Amino acid sequence: DHSPFYDMFMREHTYLRISLTEKCNFRCLYCMPAEGVPLKPKEKMLSNEEILRLVKLFAVHGIDKVRLTGGEPTIRKDIVKIVEGIALTPGIKDVGITTNGLVLGRFLPDLKNAGLTKINISIDSLDRQKFAKMTRRDAFDKVFKSIELAREYFSKVKLNVVVMKNQNDNEIVNFVNLTKDRNLDVRFIEFMPFGGNEFDNNRFIGYREMLRQIVDMFGEDVIRLTDSPNDITKAYKIKGFKGQFGFITSMTDHFCNTCNRLRITADGNLKVCLHGNSEVSLRDRMRCGDSDSQLSEIIQLAVNNKKARHAEFRHGRAEKHAKPPNDFNRRLTL
Ligand code: GTP
Ligand code: 5AD
Ligand code: SF4
Repeated sequence: DHSPFYDMFMREHTYLRISLTEKCNFRCLYCMPAEGVPLKPKEKMLSNEEILRLVKLFAVHGIDKVRLTGGEPTIRKDIVKIVEGIALTPGIKDVGITTNGLVLGRFLPDLKNAGLTKINISIDSLDRQKFAKMTRRDAFDKVFKSIELAREYFSKVKLNVVVMKNQNDNEIVNFVNLTKDRNLDVRFIEFMPFGGNEFDNNRFIGYREMLRQIVDMFGEDVIRLTDSPNDITKAYKIKGFKGQFGFITSMTDHFCNTCNRLRITADGNLKVCLHGNSEVSLRDRMRCGDSDSQLSEIIQLAVNNKKARHAEFRHGRAEKHAKPPNDFNRRLTL
């Protein structure tokens, strides 16, 4: 049976996000505490072979895009091999990574040769000190160099900017200006609650407020673009600028209706929603000797349980949130 993974709301799942490691060489304020997060032992992590087996299986069911995430995916030393294996899998059209860019320079040529098609790099500030404050690592120069290098290898590079009140919310226009002469797609991301990040409404800023700053600066030159299907970004550009920008509005205007994503955690759990703890271990099933068709069945059952929208919207509006419940997405899988 090769049928696509549809859920109860007729959403077809064609995009698989695989976390390669829980480790990270940054400690971003919005992601984890300064001391890091507890890590599971290595033998619990999926092996390359297990990852590739799953990719092949998902591809048979219509997944055509895979993105490697983390933690920080480049910490996994065999990332090039993994990208290569995924790119060679029949049915897969796109292989991307989302990275903090710290050691990207070392891997880029090999990743490109291995078949990487998409690259998203996180950068939260264009000011060295502010960058160090937000990531808790003084690495602005390295990351910015990685972005410039990535532009040589890829016609389009996306930047992820998580916007936090009184941290980097005064840099929005500067980021938009980066798109003047560069074919960058800068995405401003609403800060979301995760278990370890001490989400707090005083640090939250919604996309309308961000857009307001841009409109105040650029006025009628702000152009709304058409969003591509399943894209989670509301896309804009400034008239005459080479690149574009957009907003990822997880909190104020969720995009769950068109969600086409499934996730696998570094230790092999299937997650049907970013915000959700109900997970099933594909690793255990594989290690117990399940066949591909048994695995497909388990995946389809999990997909059947996917909710219409993420839990943050149970009460309608995200802004009302005080603190996320304790069990809220403790795992570091983006
Ligand atoms: P492409 O569309 O392939 O370019 O990448 P992407 O935007 O899906 O991925 P990326 O890893 O760059 O994620 C950007 C931001 O979107 C991050 O803040 C993610 O946490 C957030 N995000 C990614 N997937 C989901 C999702 O399924 N639900 C929600 N609410 N947010 C998501
Ligand atoms: N809220 C919003 N975005 C986040 N990211 C990590 N943690 C959060 C959070 N709490 C973003 C990072 C990275 C992407 C994978 O997820 O900036 O670009
Ligand atoms: Fe690392 Fe990404 Fe988390 Fe920052 S957001 S600490 S770069 S995993």
